[in-house]
Amino acid sequence: MYGLYVPVYFFILCVKIIPKKGESVLPRRISDDMISRICDENDIIDYVSQYVQLKKSGRDYSGLCPFHNEKTPSFHVSQEKQLFHCFGCGASGNLVQFVMRTENLDFVDALKLLADRAGIVIPEDDDDFTDISHEKKKRILEMNRLAARFFYSCLKNPSIGKTGLNYFAQRRITGKTITVYGLGYAPDSRDMLINHLKSNNFKIEEIVEAGLAVQRNGKIHDKFRNRVMFPIIDVRGNVIGFGGRIMHNEKEINGFKIPKYLNSPETPVFDKGKNLFSLNLAKNSKADDLILSEGYMDVISVYQAGIKNIVATLGTAITENQAKLMMRYANEILICYDSDEAGTKAALRAIDIINDSGGRARVIRLKNAKDPDEYINKNGIEKFREAVKKAVPSTEFKISLIKNQYDIKSTDGKILFIDEVVKILAKIKDAVEVDAYITKVADDTGISREAVLSKYREVTSKKSYKRIPQKTEYQKKKERIQRKIPISQGLREAEKRLLGLISQQKKLYKIIKKDIEPENFSTVVYQQLAKDIFDSYENGVNPEPAMLLNKFSGDDLSEASEVFYNLEVYSGDEATVRELLYTIKLEKLNARIDTETDVTLLSQLFSEREKILREKTTWEE
Ligand code: UTP
Ligand code: MN
Repeated sequence: MYGLYVPVYFFILCVKIIPKKGESVLPRRISDDMISRICDENDIIDYVSQYVQLKKSGRDYSGLCPFHNEKTPSFHVSQEKQLFHCFGCGASGNLVQFVMRTENLDFVDALKLLADRAGIVIPEDDDDFTDISHEKKKRILEMNRLAARFFYSCLKNPSIGKTGLNYFAQRRITGKTITVYGLGYAPDSRDMLINHLKSNNFKIEEIVEAGLAVQRNGKIHDKFRNRVMFPIIDVRGNVIGFGGRIMHNEKEINGFKIPKYLNSPETPVFDKGKNLFSLNLAKNSKADDLILSEGYMDVISVYQAGIKNIVATLGTAITENQAKLMMRYANEILICYDSDEAGTKAALRAIDIINDSGGRARVIRLKNAKDPDEYINKNGIEKFREAVKKAVPSTEFKISLIKNQYDIKSTDGKILFIDEVVKILAKIKDAVEVDAYITKVADDTGISREAVLSKYREVTSKKSYKRIPQKTEYQKKKERIQRKIPISQGLREAEKRLLGLISQQKKLYKIIKKDIEPENFSTVVYQQLAKDIFDSYENGVNPEPAMLLNKFSGDDLSEASEVFYNLEVYSGDEATVRELLYTIKLEKLNARIDTETDVTLLSQLFSEREKILREKTTWEE
């Protein structure tokens, strides 16, 4: 039945197309277990002693800091925690981070050095799945290709795929687009695809491993059922996975949540962080830039309207690998995300990831529509082309967002605004670009150019003592949105102590976990630490400070490290933890009260404060 339709397109799909530039750009990964082992088998005191003459002082060792000039020792190393910290310059971290700084190595190379010292062999680059047999990958790709054909045939078969065809028609997708993308329909059946693949000599375990069937309650059935299907094809023309959409917009049926899109799981051939939807088509467009969107349907609509240089991520936030992959085909990336708050935040993150990967980004802003697909259907392709032409450079985009957060007519607002802007400018390498923005900001605020420039210099000179730029996954992903409510010193201190305490004792964590969530902490660093500490306990293991610090670098690393350093002074019990929670709640509320101008909201905040004060007296009794 399905064999009748063997569209020419799928023959084209199977032709291997060689990418334009070099093939392998991806860095290698080392598993957390391996990192743990390498750290366990090296001792920080041992290693640091090569550089610093250490003396026992109290529970720690101390010496002259290797990272700044000093006459009295303020550099401490803790054997127990396997951390170092300088109270003079703030340099801080675990052993790997010490090696990174002293040897000027990146994270992976520092680990390799430590592995060599301990005689540990790190298994070869697992990047290209070298450990998984070539044969297995070939069979999964073959199953995917058969499945894509099968879904396509079902869509085109009037007695099976009518609802799918109607759905695409309703979304104004043409027959030609269906063929170009190889769109399909997964029938409402438990085993039609399984049977089709079995009849092609594939075993059930293989089908499950390809992510095309799933096991639930002991039974195995087709993974994709009653959905329209979007095959995901890599630049070489392999079908590596699928996305499948329900044909309505209900979020649940009979109380059961149903995901709008279901995607193939990660398989030996499918890595969501390393591929992009429609790059196989976009790479053939003659354009110098690539538009990056969030959704399959966004890409398809824009492509159908004649703009072919568009791709989308695969249901996850953009990764550095994806940014690098795009840059093989484009000089500049034009981010075109949803116009809501989530989309804006995601765009900010995408800018940082693209910049950190050495790429340039601009942002396309769409007004009065949720996403590119809706925008085109409402306004037509010409309006979309105009929006693309008007894409703003990433720095301008960031500055405009900050500007919205402050009242730059007031003096306070101007100061805060300029403080934020110079931080952004400090990251730009191009001196002319920096200069242009400094002039612009001075004009916008009416502050003298000299004053703005000196603020900028202040920030850049502070940065220069960090001799070696260090980037972690964490930092790349870090949100750079500034909050309006100021963080008091008291709040910071309380949060720091709370994190330090719960990281030592599970029972203290248990006391606070109902009352505070990682997102409630007031700095991005504390949020990340809280998340990792919480996750660790929830997974039944005690958090290890030195491992938690791997995610941080630079100023963030110092901030994170202070949480664990000198825990001695924070010896605390249940009462301390309650007291800290109370301080945190109160400080936060006070900050809101200080900045709130709306009278009704203010009175609500006051009564909330009353409540917290009452609660305190209850547990104090
Ligand atoms: P959106 O929710 O923005 O959907 O998700 P969309 O692309 O506009 O889809 P339509 O227009 O409603 O059909 C954006 C992308 O996030 C992933 C998919 O890759 C989707 O294209 N996603 C979304 C999922 O993986 N699962 C979901 O349940 C929802
Ligand atoms: Mn949409």
